Amino acid sequence: MLDPVSWICQDGRCVREFSTDLCGIPGKLRLIDQTRLPMELTYIETDDLEEIYSCIKRLVVRGAPAIGCAAALGMAAVIRKQTFATPEEFIGTVNEAAIRLAESRPTAVNLCWALDRCVNRIAAESFHSKNVCKLKDVLLEEALNILAEDIQMCRSIGRHGMALLKEGMGVLTHCNAGALATGDYGTALAPIYSAQENGIRVKVFSDETRPLLQGSRLTAWELVQAGADVTTICDNMAAQVMKEGRVNLVIVGADRIAANGDTANKIGTYGVAILAKFHNIPFYVAAPYSTIDITLPDGSGIPIEQRSPDEVRNGFGRQTAPSEVKIYNPAFDVTPNNLITGIITEKGILTPPFKDKIASLITPGGQA
Ligand code: MRU
Repeated sequence: MLDPVSWICQDGRCVREFSTDLCGIPGKLRLIDQTRLPMELTYIETDDLEEIYSCIKRLVVRGAPAIGCAAALGMAAVIRKQTFATPEEFIGTVNEAAIRLAESRPTAVNLCWALDRCVNRIAAESFHSKNVCKLKDVLLEEALNILAEDIQMCRSIGRHGMALLKEGMGVLTHCNAGALATGDYGTALAPIYSAQENGIRVKVFSDETRPLLQGSRLTAWELVQAGADVTTICDNMAAQVMKEGRVNLVIVGADRIAANGDTANKIGTYGVAILAKFHNIPFYVAAPYSTIDITLPDGSGIPIEQRSPDEVRNGFGRQTAPSEVKIYNPAFDVTPNNLITGIITEKGILTPPFKDKIASLITPGGQA
């Protein structure tokens, strides 16, 4: 699998799991620069807070689980290179870094979930230890635990979701919820990868996903790398492809799922869900528990990121709309729960009504 997010040690080791031989050794966050795909596979290594903030904001790393992992590891890198006179100064700096990184993107709840987890782990640990070197290692351990759990989560979603797939089926997906968006297999693409490993091959339709083309630049790229059968279509072709009977199932990822199952995902997902309903095609969301926000009763409270007009007007270096025209560029939309056939989680597939099932998945502490 790809490694969009990892930890690179000063001695050149690239790791995605904590072990005691990492203790005390400096390191950096390592990211695939997704803005350069599909043309070139390059990496960025950084321990600079503002650069990490910018990498998340500019979509060098993107996809809800991946930005959670990147923020946690990035914070560990930023803190690790600094010296602190007291544990209080250490904790204060961790809190400030978490607040700054949380501001980078508003919709995917995994970002705050991962940062809160690191902050809470440090708060708990500092009751037992005032040793700043030890606390630095604990911060790195927590960040690498988040990444390791993400890898397991992808595998479990893959196992559960695979049951929906049969040889030769047409599966449409929107945006990129694959290996580039997570620590491992992806969420929406996990069932497809699992099926392929088990000898079941499906035909994937990858929506191009305007304006930033995550579907054609990233989903198509990673599926081609994996030897999967993938066809890219422009977003406005989905209805026709469904009408032609080529799509048997839709699977998309999620950036935030409210307590009733309403789901925020890449702009255009809501439209795909309506099309699927019209054509009687099952519409599934695949996401881990870290994407569920039980503090929001429904999708109306999900913050929707508004992005620069230039992404629409000057996408990829070419002007495609008049300079004077007004541009509206919401990055996400919310699909109401009544359009969702099921939510594929690492614990199994939830079916409607979602509210009680989601509540039972998440304990009051916020963990599944
Ligand atoms: O703006 P992006 O590229 O971060 O949007 C990503 C998506 O909408 C994904 O579908 C979602 O984060 C799930 S990734 C497993």
